[in-house]
Amino acid sequence: MKVDIEELKSKIKPRLRPIIWRDEDNTLILLDQRKLPFEESYVELRDPVSTADAIRQMIVRGAPAIGITAAYGMVLTIAHGSISSLDEALKELARARDVLNAARPTAQNLFWATERIYRRAEDAVHNGRAKSIKELLEELKAEAKAVFDEEFEAELKMGIYGLEKISDGDAILTQCNAGGLATGTGIGTATAPIRVAHALGIRVSVIAPETRPWLQGARLTVYELMMDNIPVTLIADTAVGYVMYKGMVNSVMVGADRILRDGHVYNKIGTFKEAVIAHELNIPFYAIAPSSTFDLKSRVEDVKIEERDPDEVRKIRGVPITLDNVPVYNPVFDVTPPKYVTALITEKGIIYPPFEKNVPKVLGVQ
Ligand code: MRU
Repeated sequence: MKVDIEELKSKIKPRLRPIIWRDEDNTLILLDQRKLPFEESYVELRDPVSTADAIRQMIVRGAPAIGITAAYGMVLTIAHGSISSLDEALKELARARDVLNAARPTAQNLFWATERIYRRAEDAVHNGRAKSIKELLEELKAEAKAVFDEEFEAELKMGIYGLEKISDGDAILTQCNAGGLATGTGIGTATAPIRVAHALGIRVSVIAPETRPWLQGARLTVYELMMDNIPVTLIADTAVGYVMYKGMVNSVMVGADRILRDGHVYNKIGTFKEAVIAHELNIPFYAIAPSSTFDLKSRVEDVKIEERDPDEVRKIRGVPITLDNVPVYNPVFDVTPPKYVTALITEKGIIYPPFEKNVPKVLGVQ
């Protein structure tokens, strides 16, 4: 089906705005995702340290949304500081980059975004485009806005490419929340083809596992899809295998926090299990992510899987469900080896195996 991107923009109008930049007073405003789906409240940020903290506490989460937030976190470094020279500004930006990068270890978009803003600052200063802090601030605001705008555009493109993998009546299993809340744009990665299909009148439904321990599926995916009238059914994480075995799933579509050159996909814990079962049952498994999620330098042994507070497992939303001293292991991402991945869907096209050869080729990099 031929789809025009401009026409799509008029059809897809997500209500959610998880990341807002208020230009008048240089303030970053985040929808507090810890409180969803019961309360829509916002947090205002004016410095990189609080921005890193917001990422760490998961007020904002999801790889592309973390990237956009970190980009604006860099902007905040010079928007409110008492920086007196361009040299000092670059030093402060390098410091902010370290602070933001330390917030969470797995999502590639975080490192990609802080580096991009830092490079723009360096370029603007060294090539004389920014002759004052004010001019530098304008440069960096434009770059952070470009990070957001490019992500929005990329998601529409991924939605159009992914449409090829959806037939009328399909039920799609996802994991976590890889929707508009996770990207900051209101569209999403895994949900992009689903939103595009829905907007074009193709019947499509979603099966959302609850995604313990943080319950992104139950709290966020359900919330944003129901808000936009996209049919969704919530299942317990433990029901994934049975639901697939029963023939209730036509394909699996997930987002990614990082994708390596050889096709290893890092995503929310539980993704690997879905991929293995899908492989066994001949159900296609797609990871959908923008090129900013790809890490072409690292190998599996280099990537850190985040481990979070044991209390996230001992409790559900603050309520204890076990003994408070039980030892807990709480890795919040897993890695799916390439043999289980049918294809990677990016804004530059669909990438099929062998990934080692096709990832750089489709992304247009070495
Ligand atoms: O821990 P989170 O909520 O930040 O994890 C998010 C995910 O794992 C998403 O699936 C991933 O970032 C892709 S988001 C479009």
